[in-house]
Amino acid sequence: MLLSIALLVMLLSITATPISSLTYTNALISTDAPDPGCMYDPPTKQFYCAHTCNGEGALCTNDSGNFPIYSSSDLTSFSYVGVAQPPYTDGWAKDRFWAPELHTSPNGEGYVLFHTAGNEEGNLCLGVSTSMNITGPYTPSDEPLLCNSDEHNPNVGLIDSTLFVDKDDSNKPYLIYKVDGNSNGTPSDIKIVSLSNNATFVSDKNVTNHVTLISNDVNSWEGPCTEGPWVYDDRSKSGYLFLFYSGSMYNVVSYSVGVARSKSLLHGWEKSPHNPILHVGGSEDSGFSGPGHCSVIENEITDGDELAMIYHAHVGYNVPTVDSERYLMLDFVRINEEGWPEMVNGDGTPSEDEQEIL
Ligand SMILES: *[C@@H]1O[C@H](CO)[C@@H](O)[C@H](O)[C@H]1NC(C)=O
Ligand SMILES: *[C@@H]1O[C@H](CO)[C@@H](O)[C@H](O)[C@H]1NC(C)=O
Ligand SMILES: *[C@@H]1O[C@H](CO)[C@@H](O)[C@H](O)[C@H]1NC(C)=O
Ligand SMILES: *[C@@H]1O[C@H](CO)[C@@H](O)[C@H](O)[C@H]1NC(C)=O
Repeated sequence: MLLSIALLVMLLSITATPISSLTYTNALISTDAPDPGCMYDPPTKQFYCAHTCNGEGALCTNDSGNFPIYSSSDLTSFSYVGVAQPPYTDGWAKDRFWAPELHTSPNGEGYVLFHTAGNEEGNLCLGVSTSMNITGPYTPSDEPLLCNSDEHNPNVGLIDSTLFVDKDDSNKPYLIYKVDGNSNGTPSDIKIVSLSNNATFVSDKNVTNHVTLISNDVNSWEGPCTEGPWVYDDRSKSGYLFLFYSGSMYNVVSYSVGVARSKSLLHGWEKSPHNPILHVGGSEDSGFSGPGHCSVIENEITDGDELAMIYHAHVGYNVPTVDSERYLMLDFVRINEEGWPEMVNGDGTPSEDEQEIL
């Protein structure tokens, strides 16, 4: 066994294409860093990620919405910068501060931090904070961005918000989010609604009226849940918008990333026949499992055609539980000749060896 591994390593090192000067090895953050929301910030020429703080570890004191921020100049490694905002104690949000995302404000004035949180009634809602500085401190809005007020299904919360700015339509901003249907056995729809130009206000608060982009297929790999949406606009190249999402449950080995595409934002979404595109390997030797909740961004430093997918994964094969740590991971995506995104790392599993920054 050892001998054959040694032989394989030798063969690989002879046949592998030359590695560029920039390389990385997963994980990029080897501590609990779930639900990474990442962006590239042109003014500071840095990549930034925020992540859910589960009240574990030195940087996450408790479930108080302070959200750690990390930065990177080249995606080879990330450094802790600070927390996005002070502990949130007297606003509408009370607990379950999840899934932060940092975005440039669509009106060009500073930055927005989107996140999930439970309100006083115990319902999961979507919140927004703003700052003129990418690293904060962010100031939370007095009111939630959106809560579910649908009288037909009042106990279903809203989670996992993302921002999409439609460059083909005067930079019109949209909020895309998940109806948390798997919490009560109803569909976990990914929905969309338009936002104000400062991305802090939704005028149509009736979730029933919002367009559904995709929903979970219980008989597929997705099972009860589709969540963690992220839209990447590739219309100028392949002609498609891509909606990356996670399916199955976050606390199982088979949590995975899938993708859907459409030529139009509000309708016509079809899921990839190759889903899930990122998933655990077949062997119990897999170093990482349950990959999901990705951000997909251009690598503005190398300017390559491939896209950087930053996501979280559990460490080891059989570890996922609701409490196990999720590390921050990177792998690259390319758009194939049929116009479908696929992982550059051939078999679609989280990479474990040294990889090139593309
Ligand atoms: C979280 O910690 C901060 C200080 O570190 C404290 O002010 C706040 O009350 C705590 N919140 C909860 C919910 O325990
Ligand atoms: C933004 O944050 C960085 C890092 O904390 C700090 O060096 C810088 O002075 C801040 N800029 C402003 C405008 O607050
Ligand atoms: C953001 O836009 C909304 C809707 O136009 C407006 O009511 C609100 O005052 C704006 N917020 C800020 C901070 O300008
Ligand atoms: C939300 O919209 C639906 C469908 O248009 C309607 O039946 C329902 O009464 C609305 N709910 C509220 C709280 O306005």
